[in-house]
Amino acid sequence: MTAPDPALLPIVILISGRGSNLQAILDCARSGALSVQVRAVISNRPGAAGLAIARAAGIPAVVIDHSTYPDRAAFDAALQAAIDRFHPGLLVLAGFMRLLGAGFVAHYQGRMLNIHPSLLPDLPGLDTHRRAIAAGYHEHGASVHFVSTEMDGGPVLVQARVAIDREDTPEQLAARVLEQEHRLYPLAIQWFAERRVRLDGSGCIVFDGVPLIRPRNLATEQTLPC
Ligand code: GRF
Repeated sequence: MTAPDPALLPIVILISGRGSNLQAILDCARSGALSVQVRAVISNRPGAAGLAIARAAGIPAVVIDHSTYPDRAAFDAALQAAIDRFHPGLLVLAGFMRLLGAGFVAHYQGRMLNIHPSLLPDLPGLDTHRRAIAAGYHEHGASVHFVSTEMDGGPVLVQARVAIDREDTPEQLAARVLEQEHRLYPLAIQWFAERRVRLDGSGCIVFDGVPLIRPRNLATEQTLPC
């Protein structure tokens, strides 16, 4: 492992699959625009393509295979132990497809982010691009939020909005949303690294010292140069 740099926020990234958000975070960190040290990438699926991305970057790639544990509590405990070996200041869920128990969520309260492909609180859960089109929406997008026990339900920090074209297939829409995700997540993580954002004792987001009333909008933010 690279020697810790006190100026960089240590993070651990959880994945289950492709790893394109992981790649975007690594690219931004490598460019110097994102002040993090990615200490480890952990997948619950041994075949996750993102594991190869981590290895290629020289980052410990760990598998905690959920299917080998008798229940969620045992999986959560193993996952937590694997994460805490790396002492992250922030846990980053990037396409991590397992529900996490209340004890696990409480342990990382205020220091666990997730990215979800919808304008939360609308469309939690799976298959959001197809559902947005089927519902006749004109707009879709992605949200970065703090993780709570409710699936895709924690307080939302920042969103990217994407117009839906009448001709869009779910795949076309997903591709445009993903492009935005790759700008959105590094920015949100950088805010956390700069201590511009935190959760207060009642679980509300405080941004630049002021309670955040509604999620910030990527379109009006200066994105990272990476
Ligand atoms: C992204 O769409 C993310 O919003 C969702 O899962 C997908 C992960 O994609 N939570 P990738 O593995 O980062 O490419």
